[in-house]
Amino acid sequence: MTSQTHDVVIIGAGAAGLMCAIEAARRGKSVILLDHAKKPAEKIRISGGGKCNFTHLKATPKNFLSHNEHFCISALKRFTPWDFLDRVVARGITYFEKTEGQLFCETSAGDIIDMLLDDLEEAGGELYLGVSIEGVTKTPDGFEIDTSNGVLLADKLVMATGGLSIPKMGATGLAYDIARQFGHSITETRAGLVPFTLGGDKLAAIEGLSGVSLNARVTCGKTSFDDGFLFTHRGLSGPSILQISSYWKPGQTLEINLRPDIDMLAHLQAKRKDRSKQTIGTVMAEVLPRRLSERLLEWHKVQPENRMAELSNATLQTLADAVNRWSFMPDGTEGYRTAEVTLGGIDTEGLSSQTLESLKCPGLYFIGECVDVTGWLGGYNFQWAWSSGWAAGQAV
Ligand code: FDA
Repeated sequence: MTSQTHDVVIIGAGAAGLMCAIEAARRGKSVILLDHAKKPAEKIRISGGGKCNFTHLKATPKNFLSHNEHFCISALKRFTPWDFLDRVVARGITYFEKTEGQLFCETSAGDIIDMLLDDLEEAGGELYLGVSIEGVTKTPDGFEIDTSNGVLLADKLVMATGGLSIPKMGATGLAYDIARQFGHSITETRAGLVPFTLGGDKLAAIEGLSGVSLNARVTCGKTSFDDGFLFTHRGLSGPSILQISSYWKPGQTLEINLRPDIDMLAHLQAKRKDRSKQTIGTVMAEVLPRRLSERLLEWHKVQPENRMAELSNATLQTLADAVNRWSFMPDGTEGYRTAEVTLGGIDTEGLSSQTLESLKCPGLYFIGECVDVTGWLGGYNFQWAWSSGWAAGQAV
């Protein structure tokens, strides 16, 4: 690294930082991209179970949580999921659509990383890994960045160090610290897209169910998600749970509908009328995984060998509620240790939605997950990283 002044220094070689570096370098800027990790883009590598769910073709602002729901519109419109897909296709990366619009690499997430690194090299951007940032100072002409490899001077500085999730992989709050240093406020941060934990009696009640999965509707307040639902040995996970975790606050109750496609009371009443000799154990196991159906009967002290004809209206109602309206309060979440994202972050009030430039300190930019824009599960978070990185890359 030289001590000459660079046009742009970007800190954080993840999805957003790489995209920004490529775009700025393609515009002829001298670009230095720094990361304290030994390898770039480690979150891309582990994402989507190693297959990187790199975008969602139907991404709209409603798929993002932010204190300003309009903030993400400009960047998402200017660099769309289709724009990223064009790059993937041009590179010859094969991909598949898991659910409608949700795109994954066919082979490996490494394909996306290789594409980004090759694009960066071709554009002339320089990447330095294993570099710690010791401080940033504003100078009359730009920024002085103190690093473990010496001092760097830059006209423009872009912070792309992501959020707090998975500290084991090197996540830090550096972007928030720099934002505060330059007068920005940070909206409350918390773990998102994260499994729930249960304790005490609630955990004991689901003991032995670990690994049981089904499709469920999970509701918190006015928000619901219909998707996979999984019992774990610590609590609950699966896509529907991860999604709702971003909307849940401690003390709130969740309602789980284990068969959103069946009106369970009507179903049980019909069975009692038409199949009066069937046992409730058989009837419940027809609609739920066996281990779960047995446990529900046990929780509600109903003998599985009871015939449908023997069951009272009150018992049918209890069992129907257990299936369609199971309500409980999680003890907490697994936190940043396993969260896919950090909710909250740098307050969008202090940023331009077009360029992601600080309104408080010209020449300073914040992109990607460190900003208070958080996507749902499904490729939305990478799309925000690509779009915000691209938008800043055009402006620096
Ligand atoms: P990102 O975290 O990617 O990059 C930040 C970079 O900054 C890192 O390289 C880090 O080392 C560096 N850094 C941090 N602190 C630093 C410091 N102090 N000094 C120097 N460098 C520093 N999203 C999605 O859309 N589809 C998916 O399939 C998945 N899957 C997924 C799985 C798992 C397990 C996780 C944890 C997350 C996902 N995500 C996801 C979310 C997605 O990974 C995330 O939103 C983006 O990586 C955010 O991109 P950024 O570039 O903003 O940060």
